[in-house]
Amino acid sequence: MGKRLYIETVGCQMNMLDSELVVASLRKVGYELVDSPRLADTILFNTCSVRQHAEDKIYSALGRLKHAKQQHPGKIIGVLGCMAQKDQKLIFDRAPFVDLVVGPGQLHQIPALLEEIAAGSGQRMEVSLDRTRGSRREVEESFESYDPLRDPQMRPTPYQAFVRIMIGCDKFCTYCIVPKVRGPEQSRSPRQIEMEVRRLADEGCREITLLGQTVNSYRYLEDGRMHRLCDLIERLHDVAGIDRIKFVTNYPKDMTDDLLQVVRDLPKCSHYLHVPVQSGSNPVLKRMKRGYTVEEYREMLARVRSTIPDSAVTSDFIVGFCGETDEDFQLTVDLLQEGRFKNSFIFKYSERPGTKGAELFADDVPEDVKKHRNHVLLELQSQISEEDNQHFLGRTETVLVEGPSKASQKHESDGPILQLTGRTNCDRIVVFEGNRRQIGQFLPVAIYDANAFTLFGAVVTEEVGPEVYGISLRS
Ligand code: SAH
Ligand code: SF4
Ligand code: F3S
Repeated sequence: MGKRLYIETVGCQMNMLDSELVVASLRKVGYELVDSPRLADTILFNTCSVRQHAEDKIYSALGRLKHAKQQHPGKIIGVLGCMAQKDQKLIFDRAPFVDLVVGPGQLHQIPALLEEIAAGSGQRMEVSLDRTRGSRREVEESFESYDPLRDPQMRPTPYQAFVRIMIGCDKFCTYCIVPKVRGPEQSRSPRQIEMEVRRLADEGCREITLLGQTVNSYRYLEDGRMHRLCDLIERLHDVAGIDRIKFVTNYPKDMTDDLLQVVRDLPKCSHYLHVPVQSGSNPVLKRMKRGYTVEEYREMLARVRSTIPDSAVTSDFIVGFCGETDEDFQLTVDLLQEGRFKNSFIFKYSERPGTKGAELFADDVPEDVKKHRNHVLLELQSQISEEDNQHFLGRTETVLVEGPSKASQKHESDGPILQLTGRTNCDRIVVFEGNRRQIGQFLPVAIYDANAFTLFGAVVTEEVGPEVYGISLRS
């Protein structure tokens, strides 16, 4: 009884990975996954607090479960992740039928907590220490929750996996709730990371994405020497079976030359670099406490492009941050225009209680102005993406085949030939016709069409050695 689990995940890749680990730990104690809350005895939401909208969505999803809980009081409802850490008991106040609240640093406790609730313990909550409520070491310990259990079925595909190399964040950008809900920045031992990656390779995984809020700030002292991200990548590059290595998200100030050289020189490194700038105006960057100027970001971008000419750089932008004027926004437009990003994630500023930004500055840009600026940047980026994607016409790219395309998922067919989707070494999405058996392989695909978001191609079938495409053969 109580062993059918439904889990819904919002937020960033950290949350996707957390959900994978939670599911793995619950499968181990006999749970099976179902794909609708109606079929489940245990319903978990892994939540995000980065913008108000993400929280509203979860509270309304919870609201929709109120009735189900009245009819089936045995159903267990849990709220996990960043919003659990941020709102804590407030969740029980707003949704009294919730049974479980667990912060991102306490997820390892879930199997035991669910058992206690099923045995009649009543509501349970486990969260980490607030950053002001203890010494650095105490707070760090209360967020440490590494779980080596993996669950291939929970991954986007069995051939791709996230690997956490850091938790938390110490940058404290004034708009951002992440340092509060994810705790202090802590890197993980290279030895442990390597063990995890070897295990993933044994399970058939071909691509890993190293995760950290500021992944290139990675530092870990082990065996008497300091390991940085470039050292870690060199080490993981030797793992047989892994053929592509990505890492997100980069902090502009830590984009060092030695890291760029490693990405350029090691063939398994993806040339995709996510390095968010957030704004093109120095006064705004200063209020955001990003720690760099627009000139420094430009210099970094020039270094990336001169070291790795075919790199695909992507960025995040926040529009309508406190005090952002039309002139500030125009500078952001100029930077987006000049930056030629592969794509950009553009967000309207959402004030987060508990951040320095909320405390120090008024959220004074009207919603319609935020909307307009958001729209302007999206349009411009989409135009740039479409233009830049035209350069791929006639080229052959190595694609890791991820699975059926969205279109072929809709019109399900059992035949072996179907529309597939995958990604190039620089993270561009490619759609092409292929055989179901090709899923999980690296294939050469000739590109014949492109729009802002997708390249369209055909698999090149001549017998060519894989070394031509810069990938290693599995022995
Ligand atoms: N650690 C990553 C990203 C964290 S959150 C980094 O430093 O780049 C992902 C993105 O959400 C941020 O890059 C930022 O653009 C956006 N974001 C964060 N807080 C926000 C807020 N309060 N309102 C709007 N967007 C926000
Ligand atoms: Fe948030 Fe800034 Fe840390 Fe990124 S670097 S998680 S934006 S505080
Ligand atoms: Fe959201 Fe938490 Fe990620 S706030 S963006 S899920 S770290």
